[in-house]
Amino acid sequence: MTNLINRQFCLASRPVGYLKEENLVFREVPVPQPSEGEVLVRVVYLSLDPTNRIWMSNMDQYMPPVELDAVMRGITLGVVEESRNPKFAKGDLVTGMLGWQEYALAEGTTGSAVRKLPRDMNAPLPAFLGPLGLTGCTAYFGLLDVGKPSEGDTVVVSAAAGAVGSIVGQIAKIKGCRAVGIAGSAEKCRLLTGELGFDAAINYKTDDLLAALDEACPDGIDVYFENVGGKILDAVLTRMNLHARVVLCGLISQYNATRPKPGPFNFSQILMKRVHLEGFIVLDYITRWPEAIHAIAGWIDEGRMHYAVDIVEGLENAPAALGKLFDGTNKGKLIIKVSEEP
Ligand SMILES: NC(=O)c1ccc[n+]([C@@H]2O[C@H](COP(=O)([O-])OP(=O)(O)OC[C@H]3O[C@@H](n4cnc5c(N)ncnc54)[C@H](OP(=O)(O)O)[C@@H]3O)[C@@H](O)[C@H]2O)c1
Repeated sequence: MTNLINRQFCLASRPVGYLKEENLVFREVPVPQPSEGEVLVRVVYLSLDPTNRIWMSNMDQYMPPVELDAVMRGITLGVVEESRNPKFAKGDLVTGMLGWQEYALAEGTTGSAVRKLPRDMNAPLPAFLGPLGLTGCTAYFGLLDVGKPSEGDTVVVSAAAGAVGSIVGQIAKIKGCRAVGIAGSAEKCRLLTGELGFDAAINYKTDDLLAALDEACPDGIDVYFENVGGKILDAVLTRMNLHARVVLCGLISQYNATRPKPGPFNFSQILMKRVHLEGFIVLDYITRWPEAIHAIAGWIDEGRMHYAVDIVEGLENAPAALGKLFDGTNKGKLIIKVSEEP
């Protein structure tokens, strides 16, 4: 491996507003050699996530920001090419935070931890960065542990046609709830009420939000799974039932803001309706991930759950592709194909 070149993106400067080309630098460095305890992983797929934009900033966040000049952090699926760790063998498929690069050292004293893919599942590899990975776990634990839906409840989810939101609504249906999705195009709304089985869908770009919520949620809202923030959160807060739950999972409308956005303006409704609002980070549930992954794999196998992956070829296209999450052009879980599957 010593003669091979490793290509990687490093953070050159912190973006102000949307990510620009000059914020990342594409470097070529030698592929590293594993030391005792380490493994060398070839990255096959890189997950692009809205939180990548948070990690590039220096706001207070749930992990340290990516340091300037460091390889951009990213969740990956790869194959072990060389192992000096008895727990891993050449050819093992692993996931972990190995970053926006083609090769990475993992494990040992300095490498990121990686976990082997579950052997008892025969899904396409990209699924392990989507419904059978962090995305699925986010939907599962956010909805079930924080949202605590009961049969017959009305569950509303924003960014509903996206990777997390689409799984949230489908779990809500499996649990006997009324699922209402909020999304940004007529095509996405048709997907929600068609293939994905939601009861109703609202186009936040063209519908009158309050009137549409009244029509879609005649019994009010018991659980709101929040991915977006801003005007959608404000509208939903006015329609919550007594003792409703808000799962604060994401605020994507704020991630490129150049100054703090005011709001929510209808915060008083949390008091009036005794709403339980809880911030949720899926990493807090990591020891329980196998539970979610097995449940979701079962639902997919039974044909009760559908998902889509949006695969963009080539690591060099990662910065531009990240923009798809913010302009809504991603069709399912956004993933970069970095190298060929083994
Ligand atoms: N807390 C956690 O542990 C955790 C873990 C994973 C993800 N998340 C959060 O979950 C959310 C969804 O992530 P994902 O990976 O599943 O992405 P995704 O939903 O597949 O893609 C993002 C979607 O957000 C919508 N969006 C973008 N900007 C928007 C805006 N200004 N207003 C309204 N909608 C906007 C777009 O859909 P439309 O076309 O519908 O606008 C876009 O397709 C994000 O907020 C993310 O940060 C949280």
